[in-house]
Amino acid sequence: QPPNSQTEESCVLKRADCRAKGGAPGFKVAILGAAGGIGQPLAMLMKMNPSVSVLHLYDVVNTPGVTADIGHMDTGAVVRGFLGQPQLENALTGMDLVIIPAGVPRKPGMTRDDLFNINAGIVITLCEGIAKCCPNAIVNLISNPVNSTVPIAAEVFKKAGTYDPKRLLGVTMLDVVRANTFVAEVLGLHPKEVDVPVVGGHAGVTILPLLSQVKPPSSFTPEETEYLTKRIQDGGTEVVQAKAGAGSATLSMAYAAVKFADACLRGLRGDAGVVECAFVASEVTELPFFATKVRLGRRGAEEVYQLGPLNEYERVGLGRAKKELAESIQKGVSFIRK
Ligand code: NAI
Repeated sequence: QPPNSQTEESCVLKRADCRAKGGAPGFKVAILGAAGGIGQPLAMLMKMNPSVSVLHLYDVVNTPGVTADIGHMDTGAVVRGFLGQPQLENALTGMDLVIIPAGVPRKPGMTRDDLFNINAGIVITLCEGIAKCCPNAIVNLISNPVNSTVPIAAEVFKKAGTYDPKRLLGVTMLDVVRANTFVAEVLGLHPKEVDVPVVGGHAGVTILPLLSQVKPPSSFTPEETEYLTKRIQDGGTEVVQAKAGAGSATLSMAYAAVKFADACLRGLRGDAGVVECAFVASEVTELPFFATKVRLGRRGAEEVYQLGPLNEYERVGLGRAKKELAESIQKGVSFIRK
């Protein structure tokens, strides 16, 4: 028999609240879009993360079910669900990290840019809530097109007077995860042994794997370079086509999001040497936002690393990436300034 809500209120929730408030070690994390294809496995994996003491699950549909389900897992984090716009502020208050996979995903034949209008509106609403309720939280933005939604979020925070470029991170980790997997296959190594920097942005040619900087140092034939670069750039489309109308990457994205969120939490905790790729405000190129390796610390992306030496193939790719990226960034900024 499930407890009735009164019994649960008196027996369980108060203690859970005490545990959460009483300095149980760990961070408070909110997932916005928690009932979606990415949101659900992401919520499950964050509930398994020992660095998380409180997990808030927000969506405009289905959060009661997801919260009840995830809440039964015997791991430490206290899970609370929030449904619909009136509960957004409660979902956000006091959070250290906010992860945003809210929005519509691609269907076959769509580019990430086709999602622009719907997802831009969603991101604006959610970021206004963050500016009001947890302006110091680190934000991990997953909603596509990331190349435009990150500049949009920055403008929302600027308007609210809360913008801290170090705390706003576009999640490009799935590109790195794919790059590690595909490069490991070609090299015959375990993916854990492989580190591929992926720079630029998160769409098509803006995704630029730097195969000349792969660790362990490796050389690739021109055919391998072409195959790997294309496969990494088209990884998202490969999944969209295979799912044939049922959405885009969700499980690998949830894995990548958790890998990145965990790095952010280790940075917040003060661990040294936490370095991952992310799409952030940047002076590495002439563009205002760019993905490179960043060092994560207590204040977010505390250091943005330079590109390092590129070979000719990568220099050509960089030119192409910057051209498309400039347009996507401008599109985001113009949308919100209008
Ligand atoms: P989905 O449609 O399965 O889930 C999205 C969820 O967002 C739904 O539960 C929906 O109710 C919720 N939502 C819609 N409006 C909302 C609002 N105003 N506030 C809160 N929640 C709201 O989509 P899926 O597959 O989970 O993808 C989510 C987003 O992530 C898409 O924009 C997709 O393109 C993007 N994505 C990003 C990747 C990356 O590497 N950065 C990779 C894969 C997807």
